[in-house]
Amino acid sequence: MSVVEKTIDESKQGEALLSVQKEDNGKKLYIESYGCAMNFADSEVVASILDKEGYNTTRNAEEADIVFLNTCSIREKAEQTVRKRLTEFKKQKKSNPNLVVGVLGCMAERLKKDLLEEEKLVDIVVGPDAYRDLPNLIQETNGGNKAVNVLLSREETYGDIAPVKLDQNGVTSFVSITRGCDNMCSFCVVPFTRGRERSRNPLTIVAEARDLFEKGYREVTLLGQNVDSYRWNMTSKGVIKDETIPTTNFAQLMEMVAQIHPDLRIRFSTSHPKDMGDDVLEVMAKYENICDYIHLPVQSGDNEMLKKMNRGYTVEWFKNRIDAIHRILPNALVSTDIIAGFCGETEEQHQNTLKLMEEVRFSFAYMYKYSERPKTLAERKYEDDVDEKTKGRRLQEIIDLQMQHAHEHNKRAVGKTYKVLIEKESKKSKDDYSGRNSQNAMVIFPKKGDKKPGDYVNVKITGCTAASLIGEIV
Ligand code: SAH
Ligand code: SF4
Ligand code: F3S
Repeated sequence: MSVVEKTIDESKQGEALLSVQKEDNGKKLYIESYGCAMNFADSEVVASILDKEGYNTTRNAEEADIVFLNTCSIREKAEQTVRKRLTEFKKQKKSNPNLVVGVLGCMAERLKKDLLEEEKLVDIVVGPDAYRDLPNLIQETNGGNKAVNVLLSREETYGDIAPVKLDQNGVTSFVSITRGCDNMCSFCVVPFTRGRERSRNPLTIVAEARDLFEKGYREVTLLGQNVDSYRWNMTSKGVIKDETIPTTNFAQLMEMVAQIHPDLRIRFSTSHPKDMGDDVLEVMAKYENICDYIHLPVQSGDNEMLKKMNRGYTVEWFKNRIDAIHRILPNALVSTDIIAGFCGETEEQHQNTLKLMEEVRFSFAYMYKYSERPKTLAERKYEDDVDEKTKGRRLQEIIDLQMQHAHEHNKRAVGKTYKVLIEKESKKSKDDYSGRNSQNAMVIFPKKGDKKPGDYVNVKITGCTAASLIGEIV
């Protein structure tokens, strides 16, 4: 049981502080996370807030006194998964009426108190900016009451809270740098569930990353819905953009994190094509420990679609960004997100997406069928008129092409030697390790000598599939 825990205090400008956990209250918290990495990072903030109240986390839902689902609303399917999971807790609640069931995150924010009706099972509904209120809300549920807090904030970044690591491999970790999103892409629910964009104090980010390094972590991924719009100035908390006060932008922040230690690898997600400047690429080129990999979601390869999506760039602009990446970072690989069958998408517009994929040749992609989300601009303004069958067929064509490109990238790696950070034992064999190279390719190789997770090794690639590289330590 941890009695002492490190937190970071913003007023102390990022110096690490020690604070004492309240005595163990004998209660156990179980958290399940869905959706994007930001949600997984938030669950660690929640665990930290409740750790200070004396709760311990458990990986076994059956022994929990509190069950939290940290939820995602990005597509309808994501919400269905959570609803199904909620019904599964019904039995447990029957046998243990004191069990507190909470819905956190984006579904909580979207559906608010309507969620309390869900199977009559949910006791607490808490939006992403209200986690500091959790101890009070839990208190409120004493005696069978329901508790809700879905207030969004313009300032909350949880910057001073040192997350309690859940499901850790002890090697790689996420670090949040911004919350919310101001972009209003027409298909996207995030601005409604996460609120306005705000940046976290860079000193607390550096302090958290340094603390992770000292605990043995060797890779941090800086997280935001649009990392390129990271912007902080000391008086405004990044909310009011006062040009007379010196600011920290994303390129400068990344440089600060890269300087912590050459053995701490830096990744980041997600970059936005409209905002990703050459300054970011130049900092990447300057530091060996910033990985040669950029996740740059394009969504569509058609200008009319991009305009309807309100993405703020054209295909030509996107290709210009790809050219800049190849020019400044010749070894870098680029991955993307693509949506198939957005409102009004014609066959020709779908072909334009395939054409762009052929030109860019992404190393990896997340690919989705468009799913209409309540309240979004697209829901209000455009008809979701591409039928399911066509959406499915277009998605499959995108997936097939992407598989081909991923395999090509991997085949090109055969014969080369890469510096790989060992992450964990391979899922398929306990004789093998898995890790990643700088370009974010998954590499599988036999264990050798005393090398262990957290070590860097040189791996010569001897074979591949579309999903991973196979090699041996040299
Ligand atoms: N902030 C990131 C993406 C966050 S959501 C960015 O701007 O790129 C992750 C991905 O989910 C998006 O890139 C998009 O491809 C997909 N997505 C978002 N809303 C969607 C919807 N309504 N239907 C299908 N896919 C969606
Ligand atoms: Fe959604 Fe667009 Fe913001 Fe990404 S940038 S989270 S897609 S609104
Ligand atoms: Fe989902 Fe919310 Fe992330 S909607 S993708 S969990 S910001």
